[in-house]
Amino acid sequence: MKILGISASPRGSKSQTLRLVKAVLDGAKSAGADVELVDVCQLNIEYCNACQVCFKTGACNKKDDFQDLYEKILSSDGIVWGSPNYFRSVTAQMKTLIDRMADAIHCQLLTGKYCCNVATAGHGHEEVTDYLNAIMMNFGAFVVGSSGASMSEGPQAIEEAEKKAILLGKTLAEDIRVKRDYISQREMQEENRQYFMSLVKRNKAEWEHEYEYWNKLNWK
Ligand SMILES: Cc1cc2nc3c(=O)[nH]c(=O)nc-3n(C[C@H](O)[C@H](O)[C@H](O)COP(=O)(O)O)c2cc1C
Repeated sequence: MKILGISASPRGSKSQTLRLVKAVLDGAKSAGADVELVDVCQLNIEYCNACQVCFKTGACNKKDDFQDLYEKILSSDGIVWGSPNYFRSVTAQMKTLIDRMADAIHCQLLTGKYCCNVATAGHGHEEVTDYLNAIMMNFGAFVVGSSGASMSEGPQAIEEAEKKAILLGKTLAEDIRVKRDYISQREMQEENRQYFMSLVKRNKAEWEHEYEYWNKLNWK
């Protein structure tokens, strides 16, 4: 079982968000998972320029650190996404990574994977965990839960969030092991699949790779 943690604070080892990502990975490791941590701020990932080449061919034209990370994401059973709150959203580094995964939404490429999300903020970490929860569900993954801390609430807030993150890691590993079904998420995702399959059908001429992808799945 492979669980990947992605931290998107530019503050390196001083990051409180990184602390929460590590806590989830520690919890998952104690439950038997193989874990890996990536600091996305150490990578060179360019902006998506909406060329749609990935829709057509299944791969991005840009030669940077994205391809390796995307392979890691797609070969993981579980992914932990962590970002500080920067102006009521994720950091630019996290958003740049998400934008580069544009084909993941059309093809629902995180289907069968389990995610959890962590965030810290001055006040209002839920803005970021809610955002990440919604995006990961839209990519097709089941979201197991989230943990976060608002630093204005004092040191006990991050300590509590860290304890919760360790438990979250254990839940993540257990859910992967038993292939837990999240019924309401699955129902929402079945509607999403229908929507994206019809979108891809309508764009058959341009989005050749995505059309073939769904064709191989018998449009299910
Ligand atoms: C550019 C910038 C924008 C920020 N915007 C917000 C914000 O909108 N809301 C908030 O609660 N905190 C905001 N913060 C505070 C950070 O979210 C907070 O300090 C966080 O814990 C930093 O996480 P880190 O230690 O992982 O880097 C901002 C910080 C920076 C540097």
